[in-house]
Amino acid sequence: MIKHLAAACAALCLTCGALSAQAAVYKVGTHPTFAPFEFVDAAGTPTGFDIELIKAVLKSQGDEVEIVSMPFDGLIPALLTGQIDAIISGMTITQERQKRVDFSTGYYNSTLSAVIRSADSDKYKSSEDLKGQKICAQIGTTGSAFAEKLSPGQVVNLNNEPDALLELKNGGCAALINDRPVNLYYMKQAGGTDFAELIDDALTSNPDLYGIAIKKGNDELRAKIDKGLKDIEASGELKTIHENWFGKAQ
Ligand code: ARG
Repeated sequence: MIKHLAAACAALCLTCGALSAQAAVYKVGTHPTFAPFEFVDAAGTPTGFDIELIKAVLKSQGDEVEIVSMPFDGLIPALLTGQIDAIISGMTITQERQKRVDFSTGYYNSTLSAVIRSADSDKYKSSEDLKGQKICAQIGTTGSAFAEKLSPGQVVNLNNEPDALLELKNGGCAALINDRPVNLYYMKQAGGTDFAELIDDALTSNPDLYGIAIKKGNDELRAKIDKGLKDIEASGELKTIHENWFGKAQ
């Protein structure tokens, strides 16, 4: 009897210990003007594919997430100074960024596209046609880097996609280059026939694989996130989240 009690007690304490050791709240930075990956809903709460994904990933490991909003080009500096523990922000895994931060395994395959004014559809048929033109982009993004290569010194960097679309509409640039799913989302939201999409091999052969960034050497959190990604894929939760934001595959 005493023996049994002792064993039960030890098991209980072990569980308690494991639970309290696991219960962490991770601060995750994002720039929520990038629908459907991250944006603020009508109540001002960050939501979107990335937000649901990171919450599910860390919840699957017994942890919690606090979302911290900040400008896109401030995310890596905030990670480096320890203001946040991770970044989820439709962030492409690039060699340049890998010099400064570590990434989880990639979780979404994206690509770039350009948005032009429909009235210019005959004028701009491929990205080559945009050479030398002013091009709008979101500051610090792969779209901005692509635009700079295409049209050196002619990039109009804006803080977010809605501002960039407005600039395009008002004639401040000939095109907006950003991630394709985001361009499609905001074009649809703008409605009407003001904008058209321009895609070609130069834009789409540029793979944008999104990863979750972690401070270099934080292998514990990186391993946790990678395990979480695997676990929610196996449980089917990842598929549900994907369908929530991108619809069911036909
Ligand atoms: N995928 C692009 C990049 O990594 C754009 C990401 C912008 N994300 C955002 N939440 N504003 O550069």
